[in-house]
Amino acid sequence: MQHTIVVGAQWGDEGKGKLVDILSERHDTVVRFNGGGNAGHTVIHNGHTYKFHYLPSGILHNKRCILGTGLVINPVDLKEEIESFAKENIQPQIFISARAHLILEHHKMLDSKKGSQKIGTTGRGIGPTYAGKASRTNLRMLDIIQGNAAFRIKKALNELKDYLLAEHLFSERDFDSYITKTSELLIKLGTYYKPMVTDTEVDVQKANAEGKTILFEGAQGALLDINYGTYPFVTSCSTTAGGAFVGGGATPSMNIKILGITKAYTTRVGEGPFPTELRDESGVQLRNVGKEFGTTTGRPRRVGHLDLFALKYAVQNGGINALALTKIDTLAKIETVKLCVGYEIQGKIIDYFPADSTTLKLINPIYQDIETPEDLTPEEWIKLRHKPKSALPKNIANYIRTIENYLGIPVEYLSHGPDREETIQYDI
Ligand code: GDP
Ligand code: IMO
Ligand code: MG
Repeated sequence: MQHTIVVGAQWGDEGKGKLVDILSERHDTVVRFNGGGNAGHTVIHNGHTYKFHYLPSGILHNKRCILGTGLVINPVDLKEEIESFAKENIQPQIFISARAHLILEHHKMLDSKKGSQKIGTTGRGIGPTYAGKASRTNLRMLDIIQGNAAFRIKKALNELKDYLLAEHLFSERDFDSYITKTSELLIKLGTYYKPMVTDTEVDVQKANAEGKTILFEGAQGALLDINYGTYPFVTSCSTTAGGAFVGGGATPSMNIKILGITKAYTTRVGEGPFPTELRDESGVQLRNVGKEFGTTTGRPRRVGHLDLFALKYAVQNGGINALALTKIDTLAKIETVKLCVGYEIQGKIIDYFPADSTTLKLINPIYQDIETPEDLTPEEWIKLRHKPKSALPKNIANYIRTIENYLGIPVEYLSHGPDREETIQYDI
């Protein structure tokens, strides 16, 4: 019995939602382990588009879905998401960690301040809520489902009063009414969430002991990791496989495979270094062909060549065992394709991924030219579905082989369109 951790291997939006949807079918339980409403995952099946911010796409297969301890949850937004699926007759089996932290209105207000704008955050209150977690001032799911919830909520907010007034988020009078309104809202939400809240870690360990398979779903991507990403242009939690242990209830003794998801090129939303970014007309073309606009904020994504050097850092640092390569169909529509196979700074080749974002901004990528992958019709793709990699057309096969040789791990999934069906799995 082997569990799977799915992680983004770039700066997010690699197609994790699509792969989690596919893999859910073969797992008993799906656990989202990090982030919050900053994530946006699109899954397409039979012409129907589903959008997820919190819920694992495993709900489409009626699997047991867990929102783990590592999450920060806006209880209003999550309720809306659950209800929007219920309207489509999808009644998710959802279990939420009692230990997950709550995103409240003041976290969102803090996230609209200058510092957040410099990073280009999603404005969903993520950073301030994780900051509250570290400074031990937050409310957690468990606080709002207790009999004394009103007391707990008022106490926690009152303790923040001096800080929030100093941040000029409220006047004294406004703050009192903020406490009253928030407390009323959270008590109602507590009643709604109570049947779903549990010790999810215990659930995960029990599932493991019973021989069930667990899929751990990561949001964001390796280069947005708070510890290992392109700090400070990162999100505020662990986005690498370690996050599944910290926030999903996975334990080191479990048998786990780590699947990294990467696009056939690179994208990034928000600010921060991006060595292979295409700032010219070819970037505009790639963005439009790939429909590279954020699921959560609608912002145009920045686009560029596949950065194998950064990907190798993500693979080695995150213990990724195999890859899913997505959007090969988009790359096939681009005239000039290059792979970044090294970094040079001020004339010197470097053999490490710089920790300093200022240094990363000065990088000259070393490129290798490579033939554009063939642009296949849907019928041609269908014929390749149960065939080995050797049956792929020359340029696609060469693109994959070059990536595998450089990274030293196999491509297990090739995704050639947004639909669930537009995916080939290879034996590895
Ligand atoms: P996630 O955040 O990693 O789940 O990725 P997003 O859902 O934010 O962004 C990936 C986008 O690419 C979504 O709109 C998917 O429907 C789409 N997508 C995923 N795989 C493919 C693929 O192989 N080809 C094409 N054309 N689109 C894909
Ligand atoms: P999924 O799960 C892409 C980026 C934001 C910003 C930085 C910090 O869909 O791959 P935050 O709001 O988290 O404090 O913003 O991180 N970011 C993402 N970029 N995909 C995501 O999630 C992201 N979640 C956060 O754009 O640059
Ligand atoms: Mg996304």
